[in-house]
Formats: sequence, C-alpha cells, structure tokens
Amino acid sequence: MAATSVVVLDRGNNTTCTINLHGATVVSWRVNNQEQLFVSKQAVFDGKKAIRGGIPFVFPQFGPWTFGPQHGFARIVRWNLEKAPERLASGDVEAIFSLMDSDFTRSIWSFPFQLTYRLILREKELHSNIAVYNPSKDTTFSFNLLLHTYFKVPDVRRCQITGLQGCTFLDKTSNEGALYQETRDVVTIGEWTDRIYQNTPHEHIITNVVSGRKMRIQKCNFPDTVIWNPWMDHAKEMNDFGDDEYPNMVCVESGHVSSPVILLPGMAFEASQILQVM
Ligand code: BG6
Repeated sequence: MAATSVVVLDRGNNTTCTINLHGATVVSWRVNNQEQLFVSKQAVFDGKKAIRGGIPFVFPQFGPWTFGPQHGFARIVRWNLEKAPERLASGDVEAIFSLMDSDFTRSIWSFPFQLTYRLILREKELHSNIAVYNPSKDTTFSFNLLLHTYFKVPDVRRCQITGLQGCTFLDKTSNEGALYQETRDVVTIGEWTDRIYQNTPHEHIITNVVSGRKMRIQKCNFPDTVIWNPWMDHAKEMNDFGDDEYPNMVCVESGHVSSPVILLPGMAFEASQILQVM
C-alpha cells in the first residue's frame, strides 16, 4: 500500500493547507473555504514530475541546471513529515517537513545537507520558515532557494503588484543577461512575463486576487522576487498547464536566486515568507 502523500493542516472555519510530500509542495491553501493558490487542471501527480501549481520548493538551483533538473531536485523528491500537524496554544496549526541528501541527490549534487520547512497556518496567513543546514565538517556549498508560489487570480490583467519600483530586474523573455530598472509604481501583466527583480523590499501586495481581495507577501532573507506568467503561447508549450489557464494565475516568487547563498560547514541559513489575505 502506498504511504500517505498528503498532509492537511486544518485550522477550523474551512481554513486549511494541504501539502503533498512530493516536493513538500503546498497544493492548497484555503481561507474560509476560498482557495488562494492556483494548481493547473493538467497538473501531474505521478510522484516524479514537479507539481504544476501551488508552492513548489526550488532548491538547490533556480532555472536550468547543467547537473540536474530545472529548478533543482527538492520539488521532485519525497520529503519526510518531521512533525505532524499540531495545534498551537494560539489556535494556529504547525507542521514540519524535512529533506536530507540521499543517493539520488548526491548523484546530482554531491553535498550533504539538511532542509527543514516549517509551515504555520494562521487565520488569514500562511507562514513558511526554511532552514538549510550544512552538516559537513570541511566542505562549503552554495545554492539557490525559492518558493515558486502560484497565486490564483480571477484575471491576471487586473492585478497590480507593488514594491518593485526602482528595482533592477533581469528580463528572461528578452536578451538574457540584460538588466533593466523598473519605473512603474505598480507592475501589471499583459503578456508573457518572466523577470527576476533584485534586492526587492520585504513586502509586496498583489491586488485583485480571489474575491477581489489583496494578498500581502512578506519575506525575510529572500532578496529577489520573480514574476512569471507564461501567457498563451508558452502555456501551450507546457503539457501540464491548460492552454486557457494563464489568466487565472500569477507567480510571485520569493527567492535567493540572482546570487547564490554560500554556506560554510556547520552553518545554517534561514529564510521565511508570510502570505496574508487582506
Ligand atoms: C519561473 C522561471 O520561476 O519558473 C521561468 O522564471 C520558468 O523561466 C517557470 O519558465 C516555470 O518553470 P518550470 O520548470 O516549472 O516549468
């Protein structure tokens, strides 16, 4: 019999968070029964492919990788449930997931590592606390880390994203390598968009998410913000993404990707994100 692969944090009031142990991918976050995350109808749950939607966990590489799969291996391996969902004194619900190096990860990336991913579900918030530990006595490693969050939206063309004005960004849809500066006080999306904004502030707000509400993203130790929407043509190129689904999602991703984190032996790196429905 296959082991259970889904873990549910239930705060009551139809507020839940569901994590698939495949990639420790958050596949649903409901606040008062309202789903906040986009998961494609074509998403594949075969325990091999990365899940198309929710919050895939990107480590130790962001983007294409000479040594292994795009966006690293953490999103395509089974994680451990370190601590089953537990209600805290505050009424919030916490669960902890972990991932260590294995024969598979070492066949791609030779380093020993320990990842801890703690999720806390509050009334209108989802907290993600990540720790990356280097247990080696003598070897330093470097990595990227990113939460590839797919927000569900009624129409991406009506969303505005704050907090990017003045930031330098790499536009991956055009001349790779060229850096630009964002002049707009709010960013809107009306075409294929794939940008890495650097040194972004700790907070962004996305307007017009589900039910016309706002979503606040707060991040710590994630200096970059990636904005992605494949639009029509690139949606068609993906087998696990419906051709007509692109208006209903926007990826606003908190990450440490434009420069690597360099982790000395015996050291840990921590980063966190809070998503809040306003
Ligand atoms: C984004 C990248 O974060 O992820 C895009 O900036 C990429 O370049 C997108 O296309 C989706 O990647 P994947 O591997 O999940 O198809």
